Amino acid sequence: MEEAVARPAPGRGNGKAGGGASALKPVPLGHVEAADVARIPTAIGELDRVLGGGIVPGSLVLIGGSPGIGKSTLTTMALANLAGAGRRTLYVSAEESAAQIKLRAERLAPGPSGTNAALEIPVIAETDLGAVLATLERERPEVCVVDSVQTLHAATLTGAPGSVGQVREVAGEIMRVAKTHGVAVLLVGHVTKEGALAGPRVLEHLVDCVLQFEGERERTYRTLRSLKNRFGSTSEAGVFEMRQDGLVEVLDASARFVGEATRAPGSVVLAAMEGTRPLLVEVQALVSPSELVPPRRVVSGIDRNRLALVLAVLGRHGGVPLGSADVFVNVVGGVRVDEPGADLAVALAVASAARGVPWSEDGAPPLACFGELGLTGELRTVAHPERRLAEARKFGLERIVTPDVGTLRRALAGLRERNRSAESAASVAIC
Ligand code: TYD
Ligand code: MG
Repeated sequence: MEEAVARPAPGRGNGKAGGGASALKPVPLGHVEAADVARIPTAIGELDRVLGGGIVPGSLVLIGGSPGIGKSTLTTMALANLAGAGRRTLYVSAEESAAQIKLRAERLAPGPSGTNAALEIPVIAETDLGAVLATLERERPEVCVVDSVQTLHAATLTGAPGSVGQVREVAGEIMRVAKTHGVAVLLVGHVTKEGALAGPRVLEHLVDCVLQFEGERERTYRTLRSLKNRFGSTSEAGVFEMRQDGLVEVLDASARFVGEATRAPGSVVLAAMEGTRPLLVEVQALVSPSELVPPRRVVSGIDRNRLALVLAVLGRHGGVPLGSADVFVNVVGGVRVDEPGADLAVALAVASAARGVPWSEDGAPPLACFGELGLTGELRTVAHPERRLAEARKFGLERIVTPDVGTLRRALAGLRERNRSAESAASVAIC
């Protein structure tokens, strides 16, 4: 809402500056007292790392993700650990009944204390904002989960739950009560794949921290990323696996993805960066002749526009025309890599699929690579090359194509060599 009171614009020299309010004395930053923020660790290592070391007391954290991705599971597990450690917690569910929450809690594996502390979490199942606020004021938990911001309803406003006005009001009121009483709140928000972010997105400026939980619902791997963090870095990400008994942190993600890599035509390993950590993931491509105009471009785990760019560069500068072929690209395991360093992996995977030639011999370790593709076919350096190289070597990948190769054409030379030797081997066999 616009403010109704007319005020002279400040600092324009028209009339009295400041409108009569008394002036404040600015303080040099060096003199500002800032105590180290104490953190509340959730004992879920990946979550704590993404948060910057744990939950900051009194902070408001928005956890967004598509339905079914595991937001309720993750927040329940975090509260379970906190309850098990003797902290005051509260789970507010405006989506599920207390019985449903209990069913989920019973499925979870025992936490650090050895017992299923999830069953100790106090819960309320309520959709009315007023009742939730009153409960918060009375209970004053240290950490509270509100699941979800779209399903709570503020009676003071018209409009269906989940509408922009409602979502703003709900979050604003929860924040007011939470900051007054020092309650840290994990606010769950649904984000749909189609980008209907209207709900949670309007809250990004309001909350202290925005975490995005992503992955494919049908796949096992999930990444938790920090998009905004007033108390830490935003480049952190954590990898989880959804199991029968809850989410499990994946600490050896690179080893798993390399171990599972197929090494077939169309497969390469990308040395990616997940925040400040290197991660090796397999990128797969499939190229098949198509009559469709335009042909299909299907991606999972990378940006579709980025694929269009890579295909254009491949056609123009790599000698791999794909104008009449469907192209499918997939980052294995449901991981998402949103970084320019993935370009080269996509290009090498697509070229290998188009030619039907694998990058590695039978039994040899897969080929690893990273690098950004420029529009003139040049390879560009990306962040942290030394960490990516070290990670690849750590898992026994010695053949690594880096931006130092210079151009895409040179990067593809290895494939041409292999193509030729495969052809001559075939002709020898026929003779
Ligand atoms: P959920 O946390 O309810 O997702 P969200 O709150 O983001 O909508 O759980 C997502 C899916 O995970 C659900 O379909 C069931 C599955 N699941 C497991 O596989 N193992 C488990 O231990 C739990 C609790 C859920
Ligand atoms: Mg849920």
